[in-house]
Amino acid sequence: MIKIDDVVGMGFGNSVKLSTNVNAYLLKPTLIDYLVKGFRRVTQVIYPKDLGLILLLSDIGPGSMVVEGGVGTGFMTAVIAKYVGDEGHVYAYELNKDYIEVAYRNLKLVGLDRRVTFRNKDVRSEVEDTNIDSVILDIPDPWNSLNNLAKVLKPSATLISFLPTINQVEKLVIHALNTKLFVDVKTYEVMLREYDVKKDAVRPKSRMVGHTGYVVFMRFLKN
Ligand SMILES: C[S@@+](CC[C@H](N)C(=O)[O-])C[C@H]1O[C@@H](n2cnc3c(N)ncnc32)[C@H](O)[C@@H]1O
Repeated sequence: MIKIDDVVGMGFGNSVKLSTNVNAYLLKPTLIDYLVKGFRRVTQVIYPKDLGLILLLSDIGPGSMVVEGGVGTGFMTAVIAKYVGDEGHVYAYELNKDYIEVAYRNLKLVGLDRRVTFRNKDVRSEVEDTNIDSVILDIPDPWNSLNNLAKVLKPSATLISFLPTINQVEKLVIHALNTKLFVDVKTYEVMLREYDVKKDAVRPKSRMVGHTGYVVFMRFLKN
């Protein structure tokens, strides 16, 4: 148990004794803390191990204009919104209205809602935003979106698709290459192992997240 009165007014970096006599530390929550413990989860989500690679591959940074397809819970949306800064923007497409409500509240929790415009539309055929630097997709059939997205992407934009099965990866890659609109197509899988580190006993933890999905990366040429 923790007495809330013991904590109110205390700054980050301090500690407080629990009723079990164990020390608890007051640390400023990171975005991952909010995602994992604060966000209401209504769909499958992209895990932090994959979010990190997707962010770097996409080259999203301050000022980036991004289209996201398949908002779901909003894990990916929050990460993109954090890095586009106030000068950039996320146009977040989602078919399910109820998920948009949840994602909006999740984004508000971390103060990033103003950097996102939610669109209750199909990312495969109804994208209306132009001059896009990067597209991030987490939908079952991304190959059906490529021709339309090509109309809104800036030359040399990045496109990333997160897919749970290798069958979807094959279909997307073959389709993308056939369009002749995308090049530099690469597929990745991230495996992350945390370690227990004690003197004379350093080893990987016994449990780890097994499979999540594959990350397919490509660059758009021009129309
Ligand atoms: C797995 S969830 C996305 C989770 C999200 N990436 C996250 O990290 O929280 C996939 C979402 O894509 C949405 N979706 C599927 N096809 C879509 C489409 N064509 N356009 C827009 N949204 C779509 C579904 O309704 C679902 O909410």
